[in-house]
Amino acid sequence: MANVLVTGGAGYVGSVCCRQLLERGHNVVVIDDLSTGHAHAVPEQATLHQLDYGDRARVANLLKRTSIDAVFHFAAKALIPESVTNPGVFFDVNVAAGIAFLETLQKHGVRRFVFSSSAAVYGNPEHVPIDEEHPKNPVNSYGETKLMFERVLRWYAAAYDWTVVAFRYFNASGATQHAGEDHRPETHVIPLLLQTAAGERGEFEVYGDDYDTPDGTCIRDYVHVSDIAAAHLLALDVTPNPGMRSYNIGCGRGHSVREVIGVAEQITGTNIPVTISPRRAGDPAVLCANPAKLQRELGWKPLRSDLREIVSTAWHWHKRWAARHAA
Ligand SMILES: NC(=O)c1ccc[n+]([C@@H]2O[C@H](COP(=O)([O-])OP(=O)(O)OC[C@H]3O[C@@H](n4cnc5c(N)ncnc54)[C@H](O)[C@@H]3O)[C@@H](O)[C@H]2O)c1
Repeated sequence: MANVLVTGGAGYVGSVCCRQLLERGHNVVVIDDLSTGHAHAVPEQATLHQLDYGDRARVANLLKRTSIDAVFHFAAKALIPESVTNPGVFFDVNVAAGIAFLETLQKHGVRRFVFSSSAAVYGNPEHVPIDEEHPKNPVNSYGETKLMFERVLRWYAAAYDWTVVAFRYFNASGATQHAGEDHRPETHVIPLLLQTAAGERGEFEVYGDDYDTPDGTCIRDYVHVSDIAAAHLLALDVTPNPGMRSYNIGCGRGHSVREVIGVAEQITGTNIPVTISPRRAGDPAVLCANPAKLQRELGWKPLRSDLREIVSTAWHWHKRWAARHAA
C-alpha cells in the first residue's frame, strides 16, 4: 500500500485514477486548485487540498504533515486552442509552477513521479503509428510545455535518483460509473458530439473533411480513461530504479471523426447535425500511437478502449450528469 499524492485529482483523468488507487488499497491525497476540476469528482475516501501545486509554502506544509511515496502529476493547463492564443500562462503553470513543485518534492525526499504528458509532444507525425522515438516537434505551446517538463524531469531523475515515468496520452475518452469528461469549455470530440445529440448544442463542427484519409476527416487514437488510469497503477509497480521512462498510451488504431459520429448516432439513437468548417491550424491528418513499449515493459492492455464502449460509457455518464444538473 502506498501514499500517493495526486495533483489534478478533481479533473477528468485524475479523478478516475484516484478511484482505481483507492480500490487497490492505496491512500490518496489530492492537490487541486479546482480551476478546471470539480470537488465532487474527488472520491470521498481521498483527502482534497484546494491549492496551487506551484505554491511552495503550502505544498511544503502538506509534505511536512503527510508522508508521500509517489506523485501522480495530472494537473495542468490543457486546452490546446487556448495554448495557441495564450501561451504565457501555459509556460507559467505547466513549466514554471511545475519546477517549483519538483523543488518542493525534492526537499521533502519524494523520489517517485508519474507525469501526464501528451501525444502533443510529437507534433505533425513523420510516420504512424508513432513510437516513443519519433521526433518531437510540438506545434502548439501546450505540447511544448509537456516536452519541456519531460526534459526537466529527466534531469531530476539523473541528479536525484528519481524514478520517473512519463505517459504520453493520445485521446483520453469514455467514462466510468463515477466520472466522465466535464471540461469547460469543452473542446473534445466525443463530449461535444454527445452534447449535440442531447440537444445542448445546435450542431457539431467538423474541422476539415479534405484530409488525406479514407473519408477526409482526421483520424485519432481514442483510449478509455480507465485504461489510462490502469497504466498509472502499473507504473507504481515499476522497480524503483532511478531513471526516466516514457510511454505512449494509445491503442494503436485510429478512428476518423466521421466514424465517431456514426457510432455516436447509433448509441444515442439520434441524427447529429454536423457542419463542415475549415481545417484548424496544427491538426495533423492522423495521430495514432504505437503502444508496444507500454505493453511489453509494463504489461498494459487496453481493456475498455473499443470505440463503442468508449462512446456508450460517455453517453451513460452524460445522461446521468444532465439529470443531476436538471434536478
Ligand atoms: N484529456 C486528454 O485527452 C489528455 C490527453 C493528453 C494529455 N492529457 C493530460 O492529462 C492531464 C489531465 O487531463 P484532464 O483531461 O483530466 O484535464 P482536467 O482539466 O480535467 O484536469 C486537470 C486538473 O488540474 C487542476 N489544476 C490545473 N492547474 C492547477 C494548479 N496550478 N494547481 C492545482 N491544480 C491544478 C484542475 O483544476 C483540474 O482538476 C493533463 O496534464 C493533460 O495535459 C490529457
